[in-house]
Amino acid sequence: MNVTNICCIGAGYVGGPTMAVIALKCPNIKVTVVDINKQRIAAWNHADLDQLPIYEPGLKEVVAQARGRNLFFSTDVEKAIEESQMIFMAVNTPTKTYGEGKGFAADLTFVEKCARQIAEVATSDKIVIEKSTLPVRTAEKIKEVLSSNTKEVHFEVLSNPEFLAEGTAIQDLFKSDRVLIGGDDTKTGNAAVAALVSIYLNWIPKEKILTTNVWSSELSKLASNAMLAQRISSINSLSALCEETGANIEEVSKAIGMDSRIGPKFLKASVGFGGSCFQKDILNLVYLCKHFGLDEVAEYWHQVVKINDYQKTRFAKKIISGLNGTVNQKKITLLGWAFKKNTNDSRESAAIYVADFLLVEGAELHVFDPIVKEARIHQDLTFLWEARNESKQEIESKLKRCIVHKEHIQALESSFAAAILTEWDEFKSYDWNAIAEKMIQSAKVYDGRNVLKSNKNINQYYIGK
Ligand code: NAD
Ligand code: UGA
Repeated sequence: MNVTNICCIGAGYVGGPTMAVIALKCPNIKVTVVDINKQRIAAWNHADLDQLPIYEPGLKEVVAQARGRNLFFSTDVEKAIEESQMIFMAVNTPTKTYGEGKGFAADLTFVEKCARQIAEVATSDKIVIEKSTLPVRTAEKIKEVLSSNTKEVHFEVLSNPEFLAEGTAIQDLFKSDRVLIGGDDTKTGNAAVAALVSIYLNWIPKEKILTTNVWSSELSKLASNAMLAQRISSINSLSALCEETGANIEEVSKAIGMDSRIGPKFLKASVGFGGSCFQKDILNLVYLCKHFGLDEVAEYWHQVVKINDYQKTRFAKKIISGLNGTVNQKKITLLGWAFKKNTNDSRESAAIYVADFLLVEGAELHVFDPIVKEARIHQDLTFLWEARNESKQEIESKLKRCIVHKEHIQALESSFAAAILTEWDEFKSYDWNAIAEKMIQSAKVYDGRNVLKSNKNINQYYIGK
């Protein structure tokens, strides 16, 4: 099959960068990215590349080369479906907030809507690709929805999960560790897999493209995220023990990671992992295990999320205990809001939960992040409190105590304590001696990312040291 026309439903953190890279590497394929969110599409089409909806190093250079050539962003979902031979689904799959599986299962509403729309619109054969992270056996449900098509169109469903990490998405897409493609072992299934493989072969070496059955592919994505998050919770759990015993988590991480069977990556202790996926995907795994009656397995993975919650709370409590047991009416500075550096994404960021804890204790928060804007920070907190059914009045009164600054120095002036919640490089280059002068005497700096050098003029707390 000669693929010349593809589309992607969902122009988010996955759909946008992934399709931009496919368009760059495959100039003969027309790539259309569609979304129901008009604002997002307008931002993808903005003449000023600094206005793209996603901040990701290297992204604007890729978009600059491909946009208007063979990369297009549009809100016309139906047209894109009709014209494409391959349709990627990269819509959001958040944790369910209602009904059965609430708080654990993935909400498949958006995926199902996509499948239904494809079934309604398609008048020619299509390869439908699961790019979103989905529970194992979702392809079965998608096939069922697609079968409602009445025009005798053949649909082939593939799983092609995405492994990029935000902040390094473009490099991850250029040099993927692996590309995973799951398909049915049938004549049409194998042909569809071959067609997708031929796209990736434009820049990914053949030996890095792994083909499996659909269920293995779906489950491998959840399992990969669970294993990565498990390493962080493991090291974070040990950071608490280090603080009690005089061991140093950086030294322990290094010693552990030098074992080639373990390896050094993902052993950096922190205030806790964030991001839109780790927690959601593990909770989904927990739900699946419970569904199949595997309670012990479910409990094992649930613990990874519980330790992460523990770490965020432990950090907030350290700040309070370091300030004589109360932060009420005290100015506290939060440096960093994004869930990691080099992204404008703050979904499930540890900062949200640390901020919440301190606000409940009466703190006056002053926040600075180099990229995340005030509106987003307030939105993150509002979503959390609305989900807890807090009153409008309560929410407004707490938001008034969460002031967002454009300059770090204003956020730090006369502060009782500063907490580093994202490992932005610029925090390391600040003049911390000058900052110590500006903060109140004997102010403390709580380094939730272990990024600052030790400085005898500052009272410092590090994770796990
Ligand atoms: P996102 O929220 O940034 O983007 C999803 C987009 O889909 C939104 O813009 C939304 O408007 C759009 N959408 C939803 N329903 C639609 C419909 N019916 N028609 C058209 N557009 C629709 O989400 P994301 O971070 O890009 O994640 C997407 C999926 O990829 C999730 O399943 C996630 O788990 C997975 N994933 C994410 C990452 C990551 O780093 N963010 C990495 C790997 C996998
Ligand atoms: C993660 C995975 O790394 C990707 O492979 C996957 O595709 C993606 O989830 C997804 O499915 O969404 P991402 O969440 O973007 O990517 O970023 P990570 O680099 O994994 O970081 C996640 C969180 O863990 C961040 O808050 C980060 O600061 C934290 N972290 C990471 C640590 O605390 N310690 C570490 O050693 C590594």
